[in-house]
Parts: sequence; C-alpha cells; structure tokens
Amino acid sequence: MQLGKILPRFRIRRGRPSDAAALYAVHERAVRVLGRRVYSDSQVESWVHGTSPDCYLRAMHDDGEAFEVAVSRLRGIVGFCGRKDQEIRSLYVDPDWSRLGVGSALLQRAEAMIAAEGHDKVVIGASLVGLPFYELHGYNVVKHRHWRTGGGLMIPAADMEKPVAGAQDAAARPPRRRAGQRG
Ligand SMILES: CC(C)(COP(=O)(O)OP(=O)(O)OC[C@H]1O[C@@H](n2cnc3c(N)ncnc32)[C@H](O)[C@@H]1OP(=O)(O)O)[C@@H](O)C(=O)NCCC(=O)NCCS
Repeated sequence: MQLGKILPRFRIRRGRPSDAAALYAVHERAVRVLGRRVYSDSQVESWVHGTSPDCYLRAMHDDGEAFEVAVSRLRGIVGFCGRKDQEIRSLYVDPDWSRLGVGSALLQRAEAMIAAEGHDKVVIGASLVGLPFYELHGYNVVKHRHWRTGGGLMIPAADMEKPVAGAQDAAARPPRRRAGQRG
C-alpha cells in the first residue's frame, strides 16, 4: 500500500537550502523505482551516479535554479520541481506518492510562474518515464535524443515544449487543484 494513498494531503512551498538532503532522497528513490520501469539497471545507476545533496545546494546558490516542493505534514518532502527561466530542469515524485496528483500540481505551479515571468513557452528535457505525463499536460516532443547521464551512459530522452499564456492571463487563472492538495 502506498503511504500517499493513506495520507494524500500535501502543500506546495518554495524550496530552500535546508531541503537539499530531502530533494536528493526523493530524486534517488524516484529514479531507482520509477525509472526502472523504463530503463535498464545500468541506465538507472548511471542516471543517479554523481548526484548528491550538494548538487541541489549548488543549483540554488550558483545556478539560480528555483525549486518548489510538495510537503506532506507527516512524511515531509514528497516531490519537487526545479526551474530556471523557461526551463523545467527537474520534476521528481517519491514513488509512495506517485499517481496522486503531486507531479501535476508541481508542474502547474511551475508553468504559472514561468508564464508570470513573461515567457511564452515552457521547455523540458524529459526522460521516457516523464514523457507520457508531459504529453498528458499538453507538451509536444520537439526532438528525440540521447542524454548523457552522470555515470556516462547515454539514455533515450526527448526535448519537449508547450506554449503558455502571457503573464496577465496566467496571474488571472489559478492552477488546477486535485484532491489532497492544500497549498
Ligand atoms: C513523472 C512524474 C513526475 C509524475 O508524477 P506523479 O505525481 O505520479 O504524477 P500525477 O499523479 O500528477 O499524474 C497525473 C497523470 O499523469 C499520467 N501519468 C503519470 N505518470 C505516468 C506514467 N508513468 N505513465 C503514464 N502516465 C502517467 C497519468 O494519466 C496520471 O493520471 P492518473 O494517475 O489519474 O492516471 C513521476 O512519475 C516521477 O517522478 N518520475 C520519475 C522521474 C522523472 O522521470 N521525472 C520527469 C523527468 S525529469
């Protein structure tokens, strides 16, 4: 039984440096469990290779990446989304919380913020795990390609994008909420 099915409520807040270890834990579990449905063991290990909590600190401090995190009162951080300019750079949900609307809520929040910053599209380098999820959310594949993972293996992935409404439209239209979301 997924823990999230028993305690599905979560809220979304801005990520902060003290979240780095929790972001890494969600990332690692999502890749090892959800990634394994599409990629081989060696591809999954190469995907997580070299990732650490420090990567998130560097992304926040040095690279200007902004994070939104989904937080369950009892479990803590159960998902997160990182973005910079018009790009979604990461979106990971703990496997115990998958298919409960966490990824959709994080994506919609990030899209609204990107639109509010004045960008007219959102771009994503999507894994094949995320591809059907992003298609459901209106993204189109621009190019299929191979992505070099931290461990050096090339894995199939896709560049995807979606037009978003201008800043005024986005501010006027709150993101769609799903059962369980409080924030
Ligand atoms: C992709 C990911 C972020 C989705 O998060 P999530 O919280 O499970 O997504 P949601 O619950 O909001 O899903 C909404 C809908 O998207 C679709 N969807 C989600 N995951 C899917 C999958 N693996 N395959 C097909 N459709 C999927 C479903 O239609 C789902 O609705 P349903 O559960 O009512 O059928 C999550 O599976 C994940 O972390 N994957 C591993 C990391 C990754 O590949 N991230 C994206 C690239 S960086």
